[in-house]
Amino acid sequence: MKNINIAIDGPAGAGKSTIAKLAAARLGFIYVDTGAMYRAMALSCIRNNVSADEEEKVIKICEEAEVTIEYKNKEQCVLLNRENVNAYIRTEQVSRMTSSISTYSEVREKLLKLQRNIAENNNVIMDGRDIGSNVLPNADIKIYLTASVETRAKRRYLEQKEKGLDVDINEIEKDIEERDYRDMHRECAPLVIADGAIVIDSSDMTIEEVVNEIINLKLKLEKG
Ligand code: DC
Repeated sequence: MKNINIAIDGPAGAGKSTIAKLAAARLGFIYVDTGAMYRAMALSCIRNNVSADEEEKVIKICEEAEVTIEYKNKEQCVLLNRENVNAYIRTEQVSRMTSSISTYSEVREKLLKLQRNIAENNNVIMDGRDIGSNVLPNADIKIYLTASVETRAKRRYLEQKEKGLDVDINEIEKDIEERDYRDMHRECAPLVIADGAIVIDSSDMTIEEVVNEIINLKLKLEKG
């Protein structure tokens, strides 16, 4: 039987990973966080002291980096040259670097193959920016999950505060706007609402409500 692929795209902070993780657990699917793969590449650039605008060097580092994923207790672990780097890829520095280096087509090509391969062999919920439009254009269900910039900044702010970090909500908002712009305006596989995608605006929805909507879409799919 053909595997079921669910694609979730949307801007930073829309809640994609929280929702995709919960929905995957309920459906018994694998959750694939493609942003984490790009983040591992960005980490490799930072560790090699290369800045995002040094295109040739970035491409070389990414070509040489071995990025793979494995699952431990159903959690996705991203391995960079076999080292689990989950603990190092969520900093603001890595976020900024990731948004910049993911504009290079050579970097995207490499991860595209890995992502398609996983989706071909598993029932997956895969989240990112170009999953429904580019990685899995034939996905069974496509979702574009969004929320207002204010809502997304507030969520990020509370998340960081909970971690005990000293953060400024205006800075976060500015950062989100810049990342949105880069992700949506790059030449290669920009963030768009994919053909056939269902748009969900989570600004005034609970996590549970969004997850239920996805489960319902899957039930509808089964019923044909
Ligand atoms: O989902 P995230 O915030 O972890 O993604 C980090 C960055 O990676 C984001 O700014 C754009 C890039 N990205 C991408 O270009 N394509 C994807 N499929 C996933 C992420």
